[in-house]
Amino acid sequence: MEDAFYITTPIYYVNASPHIGHAYTTIVADVLARYHRLHGFRTFFTTGTDEHGDKIAEAAQKAGVTPKEYADRISAQFRALWPELAVTNDYFIRTTDANHVDTVRRILQKVHDAGDIYFGQYEGFYCVGCERFYMEKELVDGKCPDHQTAPEYRKESNYFFRMGKYQKWLIDHIEENPDFIRPERYRNEALAFLREPLEDLCISRPKSRLTWGITLPFDNDYVTYVWFDALINYVTAVGYPDGENFRTFWPVAEHLIAKDILKPHGIYWSTMLKAAGIEPYRHLNVHGYWNVDQSKMSKSVGNVVKPLDLKDKYGLDPFRYFLMRDMVFGLDSSFSEEAFVQRINSDLANDLGNLVSRTMTMAVKYGNGKVPAPAAAAAAEDRLLRETAARTVTEVEACFAELGFHKALIAIWEFINVTNKYIVEREPWLLAKDPANRARLETILYNLLEVLRITAVLISPFMPGSAAKIQEQLGIADAAGQNFDTIREWGALPPGNELKRGESLFPRVEIRTEGAAPGAIKVSAPPIKPEIAYEEFEKVDLRAAKVLAAEMVPKSNKLIRLTVEIDGERQIVAGIGKDYKPAELVGKTIVVVANLKPAKLMGVESRGMLLATDTEEGLTVLGFDRPPKTGAKIR
Ligand code: ME8
Repeated sequence: MEDAFYITTPIYYVNASPHIGHAYTTIVADVLARYHRLHGFRTFFTTGTDEHGDKIAEAAQKAGVTPKEYADRISAQFRALWPELAVTNDYFIRTTDANHVDTVRRILQKVHDAGDIYFGQYEGFYCVGCERFYMEKELVDGKCPDHQTAPEYRKESNYFFRMGKYQKWLIDHIEENPDFIRPERYRNEALAFLREPLEDLCISRPKSRLTWGITLPFDNDYVTYVWFDALINYVTAVGYPDGENFRTFWPVAEHLIAKDILKPHGIYWSTMLKAAGIEPYRHLNVHGYWNVDQSKMSKSVGNVVKPLDLKDKYGLDPFRYFLMRDMVFGLDSSFSEEAFVQRINSDLANDLGNLVSRTMTMAVKYGNGKVPAPAAAAAAEDRLLRETAARTVTEVEACFAELGFHKALIAIWEFINVTNKYIVEREPWLLAKDPANRARLETILYNLLEVLRITAVLISPFMPGSAAKIQEQLGIADAAGQNFDTIREWGALPPGNELKRGESLFPRVEIRTEGAAPGAIKVSAPPIKPEIAYEEFEKVDLRAAKVLAAEMVPKSNKLIRLTVEIDGERQIVAGIGKDYKPAELVGKTIVVVANLKPAKLMGVESRGMLLATDTEEGLTVLGFDRPPKTGAKIR
């Protein structure tokens, strides 16, 4: 039987427009889907929107439209975004779709018939933002820890799902299948929840309070709790209960979520499936959070990053590359536009972009516009490239198996850099001067073009547009025939292919701040951090310090050890060695944080930290127009 792969993203709430967090999860899903297609898997990829519940009803009311009109509007934004980000989902589900409503009702009826849904009383603190009841001990200063708002006290008769009944089963299942929830930190977090008694789950809302939901099949006066409704999307999308897709794809279901919704997926959904007699999903893959310039993204702080803004400004493939390269799957990451621009300039423009343009220029210039034929017996020195290629393919596959996307990219970039070094060492431009070297030159050019062919396949899940452009330049007409099988073997690029030099793949981004030249991209200043009180600022003891001596820290190309005078002499270490020669610093009066806890940098103690900032030419150390007395307090 053909191998199958099923990947899902969360279905996003329609109470806010898409941001970088939604883009990340969906792009990871897309990278995985593309990667599996390149391995010949039958693949199904679904995403969509979550449209019922108090939260959406409230947002619609504020906007002065019906919930359905509101949901239509925002859902359409998500749906339209994905093709713009080259996301190749096979299905887009809305929880208001008729087939989904039917599936939810069918599953509710089944669980009810099996005796796992009962009617009871509930009272407690309810957070509308989270759509759930909180126990008093979970609140912080009486407020929801996520939304910092006071929950409402609610008392209702409702339907409950006997979730507690499946606690033991779930613990056993997680223990027997160690990667059911991964990475491990989230498995441990789920097991930690399960150490406390698992309460039953309230799965209804009375229509007297909320009508925007799916009516329970066994009681017309109630609608379904939004999570019980939303989670079921994952089986609706593949045609539960008897669609062919359900049989093919459900047994290999891979869910992708961020850590915020671990509990509903790890606990509610697993036990819901068990109660409905559906086998468990295969893996729950949990990633961390994108913060922005070290702070949490939030509308009120005004630092919400919009994916289309970045795509329009820097291009789609660089955006996809950056997201996948800069987050370690499972851990949090901080987005900064400066870091993004650096990646474009170094990894994309310098390393990959240069490799492609140098190779194509030489191949066209020295090889009359066609892929040359390599000499039959490759020189031993060329083996390095072949071996690196084979090793890279294996390593990329190993990284994907453990969701180490950033590591896969590091491995690909090592291959790119080995090849760039190969060019520098072989000096094809010198060989081209003597016709006697023709065969050797053509072999080298062939090797370089073959590296491009392999690289194009390796990067194509991440940067499909750039991969296609490389393939086009190589004259590979049937790019669809390029997959992981064709890159395991060296030498599949057919000699004689017509080469087409293209435009530069990744133009460098000029970094300009104020006074930017027309057309240059202005890098915005990072957002200001949240306000602090003066008393907090006062805790930082800033002093004017005279530099008495400075020298490089042995074995470091960056660290400078400075002897400064503040309240006496002291030693500080600063990472400014790429921008300053030690001698330039001696005699200057600089600004030092004098009460920072001592730290060791490469084994050298630093008692304080100097202040510096970035400029276009590198770092600049803060100083004074009129130098004060050494030790002067800075206010
Ligand atoms: O929770 N960093 O929808 P949602 C990384 N409707 N990923 C982020 C992120 C961030 N800062 N912010 C959001 C819901 N995400 C429910 C899901 S599923 C049956 C129902 C991504 O719109 C991440 O995937 O709040 C996270 O899990 C999801 O958006 C939450 O989306």
